[in-house]
Amino acid sequence: MKYGYFDDDSKEYVITNPLTPVKWINYIGTIAFGGFVDHTGGALLCCGDPALNRITRYLSFLPAGEMRGTTAYIRIKDASGYRLLSPFYLPSPEGIISYECRIGTQYLIIRTDFGEFESEICIFVPVGEKLEIRDVRIHNKSGKSLTLDFIPAAEYSHFDALKQLTNADWVPQTMQSRAVKSSSGRTVLLQSAYMNRDTMLNFFSSSRAASSFETDRRIFLGSNEYGSWKSPVSMEAAELSETEAKRGDNIAALMIPLEIAPGKTERFFTMLGQADSEAGAVSAVERFSSEDEVDSAFSNIKSFWDEHLSYFNADTPADDMNSMVNIHNPRQCYITKNWARYLSIYQTGYGARGIGFRDACQDVCGIISQKPAEAADYLLEILKTQKSNGSAMHQYNPLSGEAHPGETEEMPDRPQYYGDDHLWAVYAVCSLIKETGDTAFLDKEIRFYDSDESATVLEHLLRALKFTGENTGAHGLPLLGFADWNDTVNLPAGAESSFIACLYGFALSEMIQLLEYCSLDTALAENLQSDYVKMKDIFNAEAWVGDWYVRYFDHRGKALGAPEDRYASIFANAQSWAVLSGFAPRDRAVRALDSVNRRLATEAGIKLMSPGYEGYDPEKGGVTTYPPGAKENAGIFLHANPWVMIAETMLGNGERAFEYYSAINPASKNKIIDTYECEPYCYAQNILSDEHPGFGLGRNSWLTGSAAWAYRAATEYILGIRPVFEGLKIDPCIPASWERFTVKRKFRGIDISIKILNPESCCGSVREFRINGRLCPGNVITEELLSEISGSAEVEAVLL
Ligand code: NOJ
Repeated sequence: MKYGYFDDDSKEYVITNPLTPVKWINYIGTIAFGGFVDHTGGALLCCGDPALNRITRYLSFLPAGEMRGTTAYIRIKDASGYRLLSPFYLPSPEGIISYECRIGTQYLIIRTDFGEFESEICIFVPVGEKLEIRDVRIHNKSGKSLTLDFIPAAEYSHFDALKQLTNADWVPQTMQSRAVKSSSGRTVLLQSAYMNRDTMLNFFSSSRAASSFETDRRIFLGSNEYGSWKSPVSMEAAELSETEAKRGDNIAALMIPLEIAPGKTERFFTMLGQADSEAGAVSAVERFSSEDEVDSAFSNIKSFWDEHLSYFNADTPADDMNSMVNIHNPRQCYITKNWARYLSIYQTGYGARGIGFRDACQDVCGIISQKPAEAADYLLEILKTQKSNGSAMHQYNPLSGEAHPGETEEMPDRPQYYGDDHLWAVYAVCSLIKETGDTAFLDKEIRFYDSDESATVLEHLLRALKFTGENTGAHGLPLLGFADWNDTVNLPAGAESSFIACLYGFALSEMIQLLEYCSLDTALAENLQSDYVKMKDIFNAEAWVGDWYVRYFDHRGKALGAPEDRYASIFANAQSWAVLSGFAPRDRAVRALDSVNRRLATEAGIKLMSPGYEGYDPEKGGVTTYPPGAKENAGIFLHANPWVMIAETMLGNGERAFEYYSAINPASKNKIIDTYECEPYCYAQNILSDEHPGFGLGRNSWLTGSAAWAYRAATEYILGIRPVFEGLKIDPCIPASWERFTVKRKFRGIDISIKILNPESCCGSVREFRINGRLCPGNVITEELLSEISGSAEVEAVLL
């Protein structure tokens, strides 16, 4: 079964069957105001932190057929009374002939055909504004005039999202609504919790005059709420009751009568927003009642995304890859960077998490090529939560700046830091400088979180390296701390992590190259080089066990991830990062990656480890809370898959890298979507593996580190258009069957058109390299060459 198709020309995915296996969503607005809207029109909107200022009551755990957050009705009167129709398929699919939902770049358009007429509703948040617009068009296709009512509705949450769930007396006692008229006679429904009545006002209105309204759910649904959202009792009367709720479950609903001439379209807007005063709410409503204002707000969003998606555009023989790298993957990267792990269908935003140091450092790398300045600002904020000893606070709240140590607090007997967090900052800062060439960023002064001391960005990074270098265990490998990238393996104090050893090696090597590029302190670079060699030697001496590297040593010194282990005898990250760090000599790298292919690769992606643990083991922690095949316990954890792809390209295996890329590409899942279930237009965090009866099922889509790393693996390693300190490297590693592909890339102010020719059917290695027709040595468009180019350049590389 298919539920839709990709329309790349419109930069949209089009859902044609509303009965998707789970809700599919799109993001609108930003964390300042916005949230997500599902393909049946339900919206979860917030203004700032979703835990502290939630607007709509969208409950992910309700069945898919239930109204969630927002909806709308169309009501038609006939001889037998009123007939209710749903322009969003829900709450009632009655009378719908066809439906489509266009998932666009920060907007959705839902079109529903009812035969005699059709509705089209475009949903978005204007850039920088605090309101959601629903741009409604109803087109009368018949030859006679059409009379109907349009009734948009929203259900409010208490601003304190968790309180809404935990206190069913205090919350309803505080919720209040009232109605006011704007100077032009528009009904504006205002809602707030009592203590916020003069400061944080939710508002709901329409550009078209409403004949009546409702704000009390009990009255709207009717029969003491034994009425339902599917057929509210209040809809049986000509008008809504005009109750201004003074407590209870507050909603906003408007009765908008329409008279549509034959063949004509009526267009109007509904607005749901937040203002800090009644005057502010009314003025926003008046402003966005103008067609010009709404059209220009929508075209701003389109232009923003046209620009954002113009930095990298590939035309390869693989359509699924083209859709993802040109549109959906960079879109997801931007959304993920902005929403961190705050709010999705799966991460419900009740305040358990802020922004994670480790995740943010990786997410930001998915927007560096398009938004380097935004990335730089974000990195400076992240670095404020680094401690003066070089380690980092695990999470922080960007609004308050307050950081906390993560889940360590729940286990005071375990180490109170994460062994990897701080090292990701080296990766992120180096990625930024490779894109921009701007080394002045290293000189910015940032304070440390736990002291008044400030230091340059460079010093922050050097302390990160120093912390790991100084916190090693019995084998000389870095101590795990509470956990490393794999949050769920929490071993007693003294455990060591070979993954951190590799991440440390990777970060050292990045830093050494950076220092060389800046011609900074050669003695320091030499010291770091000797640290690198030292760790590489230890890693190879201690962690190699015949055909692969082990993942951890526990506090007793026992290896985890070794062939003799009954469970978890091989971990993917120990192999991929052994290659990424340059630690694995070629013969070991080949054997380690072959072991991954043999032991961990499935048709749906690569498992994080295998075999999965069976049963809870408090010593190991979270990983053993999952059944085998789920999440970190031998599930396909997508975030870690691109690392194997990148490692394969480093060995020149374009076939395998692309096979792994395709195995997790959501666009490829469109063909097996009843198994996969999640949106085919964004990466999920996890897929159940072949160790689980639900093999192939995806979950936790949108806000995941898979987005930025899949983008990197695809654009920089498989297609091979990779920023390096010296310039832009052209280093593809593709399937041998590809005869050619092209890429348009904006880099350091130049528009570069790149043509890759593969006449000998190989995977990689550029042998002929031309810039504007001139044969050049190597395969890097160096800064020197860039300085000779103005505006644009044509590059041709031949693989031989
Ligand atoms: C999700 C977390 O957000 C991320 O930080 C972590 O690396 C992965 N889970 C793996 O445990």
